[in-house]
Amino acid sequence: MSTTTTTDRTDPTARTVVAVSERLVLTRPREGDVGAVFAIHGDPETNRYNPHGPQRELVQAREMLDGFVADWVRDGVGYCAVATREDPGTVIGFAGLYLHTLDGERVFNLYYRFRPSAWGLGYAAEAARAAMAEALPRHPGVPVVALIHADNLPSRRLAERLGLVADPDGRTDEEDRVIHRMA
Ligand SMILES: CC(C)(COP(=O)(O)OP(=O)(O)OC[C@H]1O[C@@H](n2cnc3c(N)ncnc32)[C@H](O)[C@@H]1OP(=O)(O)O)[C@@H](O)C(=O)NCCC(=O)NCCS
Repeated sequence: MSTTTTTDRTDPTARTVVAVSERLVLTRPREGDVGAVFAIHGDPETNRYNPHGPQRELVQAREMLDGFVADWVRDGVGYCAVATREDPGTVIGFAGLYLHTLDGERVFNLYYRFRPSAWGLGYAAEAARAAMAEALPRHPGVPVVALIHADNLPSRRLAERLGLVADPDGRTDEEDRVIHRMA
């Protein structure tokens, strides 16, 4: 699906739509999402496997959001804010692809983090598929990887459902996360 711009300077609720799926709408993160970034990344439950732990201060969420926004400006692709089509004003998670260099190779990092109230519904899988369907045809040949702690089984299960496989040699990154890669 091509990127649709619904941004309207006069409408503070308008968002730039990246993709729409059966139940979800993915949009570019924007300035006003700092509360949602903090709610999701400051929750100990969503960071159980994150060695850095949850964000503690709003300024950390602000820095992360600034990075998300900058990725879109620089690369025309990045992580998305995810809401349901039923309630498009409430961000329930962040998911998508970030272009970066891993071991000297240009790759897409696949990311998903959702409010616990949105787990177990298949939303993360649906959002990840929609983000990949939108971005991958625009960047042919760029492989998709996900860096996941070995004990983060919900995330690893999801990565596998999406077609990624754990590195057969158990390769990890500098934070000891297992490198999963699109088969
Ligand atoms: C990783 C994470 C996004 C996975 O969320 P999730 O809800 O388990 O994943 P999905 O959205 O794909 O949901 C799949 C589950 O919903 C169930 N489900 C219910 N309705 C469904 C539907 N309509 N379609 C698909 N699955 C559905 C599936 O049976 C599946 O359950 P199972 O895993 O017990 O088999 C979530 O645990 C999370 O945000 N964790 C914290 C952040 C994190 O660790 N991120 C990864 C960093 S590497």
